[in-house]
Amino acid sequence: MRTHHCNELRSSHIGQSVTLIGWVNSARDHGGVIFIDLRDREGITQVCFRPEENSSIAELSHSLRDEDVIQVTGTVAARLVGTTNEKIGTGEIEIIPSALSIINKADVLPFQLDKELSNEDLRMKYRYLDLRRPRMNKNIRQRHKITTAARNYLDAQGFIEVETPILSNPTPEGARDFLVPARLSPGEFFALPQAPQQYKQLLMVAGLEKYFQIARCFRDEDLRADRQPEFTQIDIEASFVGQEDIINLVEGLLQSMFQAGLDRAVPGPFPRMTWRDAMDTYGIDKPDTRYDMKITDLGAVFAGTEFKIFRSILDGGGVVKAINAKGFAGITTGQMNRLNEIAIQAGLPVKTLAFIKCENGEYKSPLWKFFTDDEKNNLVSTLAIAEGDIVFFVAGEWESTCTILGRVRLEIADMMDLTKDSDALNFLWVVDFPLLAKTDEGTWTAVHHPFTRPNADDVALLDAGEYQKVRAVAYDVVLNGYELGGGSIRIHEKDLQAKMFSVLGVTPEEQQIKFAHILDAFRFGAPPHGGLALGLDRIAMLIAGESSIREVIAFPKNNKACDLMTDSPTEVDFKSLRELYIASTAKKDKA
Ligand code: AMO
Repeated sequence: MRTHHCNELRSSHIGQSVTLIGWVNSARDHGGVIFIDLRDREGITQVCFRPEENSSIAELSHSLRDEDVIQVTGTVAARLVGTTNEKIGTGEIEIIPSALSIINKADVLPFQLDKELSNEDLRMKYRYLDLRRPRMNKNIRQRHKITTAARNYLDAQGFIEVETPILSNPTPEGARDFLVPARLSPGEFFALPQAPQQYKQLLMVAGLEKYFQIARCFRDEDLRADRQPEFTQIDIEASFVGQEDIINLVEGLLQSMFQAGLDRAVPGPFPRMTWRDAMDTYGIDKPDTRYDMKITDLGAVFAGTEFKIFRSILDGGGVVKAINAKGFAGITTGQMNRLNEIAIQAGLPVKTLAFIKCENGEYKSPLWKFFTDDEKNNLVSTLAIAEGDIVFFVAGEWESTCTILGRVRLEIADMMDLTKDSDALNFLWVVDFPLLAKTDEGTWTAVHHPFTRPNADDVALLDAGEYQKVRAVAYDVVLNGYELGGGSIRIHEKDLQAKMFSVLGVTPEEQQIKFAHILDAFRFGAPPHGGLALGLDRIAMLIAGESSIREVIAFPKNNKACDLMTDSPTEVDFKSLRELYIASTAKKDKA
């Protein structure tokens, strides 16, 4: 239906007869002369309808409205001097039409496509219009490029793409499952996979050695800007490999994706940090290392303190830590309240964060008077406190102290706009994660998932029940504070896997019901294996420079996990439920 696309014609085409098709991006009437910007996915070409050249189609052009679909045949002409547009590739030419056909009229749109729209729900309801915007078009196409680069890279490394079932059994990845009633097995349910974790391990037992999949995953968890209930992983597993092999593979993969998406070379190898150091210094397992504001331990400064609160915490094996927000002493009351709120949410047991401000050469703090001169001097030099700085303190148990300061650090960075003009790509591997974490109920849960291998040096600790000290052979790859991916070397021995389940409180009977397939498979010569999964949406988001993965997913759910365009989820009628042997109590519950 066309000879060229709308970003193709240049001065070299002047005089040629062409046919273009697309949408009316805008129509301008300059004293009876109608200028149409004709748009397709590649760009824009100007079409100029002058009554003196062709009165009948000039007349017709008056009826054109934004987003009508039209086809234009005409001659490529040079634009008049002074009317060229350097901002677009076709800015030196325009089309003088000899034929115009209106293929489909558009109603008035619910929103203008050339204006940013803050009402996200409206964007979602008319997502097919929202996707017409150049920014969204670019995001979706960029995502295609990086996905293709990932496929090509993994293929070149000998990885085989295998699809695994969507209707499956529950895979524990820490979220709630989406369940699907199985009509042919009354009263029974499939779970949508939170990840293809068990299938990919079974493919290793099957002898495939190198697997990957661009895999849809489903997790019923609270949504955030970087979380969707259904999302996509680049899922990888390989046999006869160790941590270094996976790390090298994934660095190469990420480099090829960033090259394809951003045309930017990412230098390797990526730096590494142990989980313990990440927590100790940044208070989080996915540190944003684009700025400093590191968490500093003040154990040495207050070793001999008589300040009661610090004394009893230090004597009880706790820590005193602080961050110095350089140049932030001018913090507003509103910001201070917000920081207190964040700290409380993160577990601060008191109502306000302790602080010291250095303003006009004075140290202002409710705590200052409790410190000795030595402590004050030591504190100032340890934290390099200078005019205009504000220091926040937390004292308590190590992990929660780190976590609180980590959250406060992120919030301050946000308030201070510390990463505003940064184009840094700070990749980082976080390694040596703990295998297990204690829940509030006092039971143990897997930090990654139950298939993660304990560090060989720590197996004795596992046997001795010292669970908190056992490290996993697990690694996360982080970029600018976002967890891009996580993986591990797996358990491949039946007995160790069964032991791991027991530690997690899965009884032998439950193991048989939920995990017989994997425990069985491990009886028949399972190879050592490991892998990782990258969050494709997050990578696409960061490459596109967006702050929500919704901007790189064609049809995402909104923040209440609903699809406003198709109006799903929906209630189903009684008959459909009965066929599935299900009774809904939602209405009763609501009442
Ligand atoms: P994990 O649970 O860490 O590991 O997930 C891997 C990566 O998937 C992305 N991700 C998400 N992206 C968008 N929305 C979500 N709700 C969401 N949840 C996770 C993140 C994350 O780093 N089976 C293991 C991998 C393995 O061990 O090989 C797994 O799924 O970027």
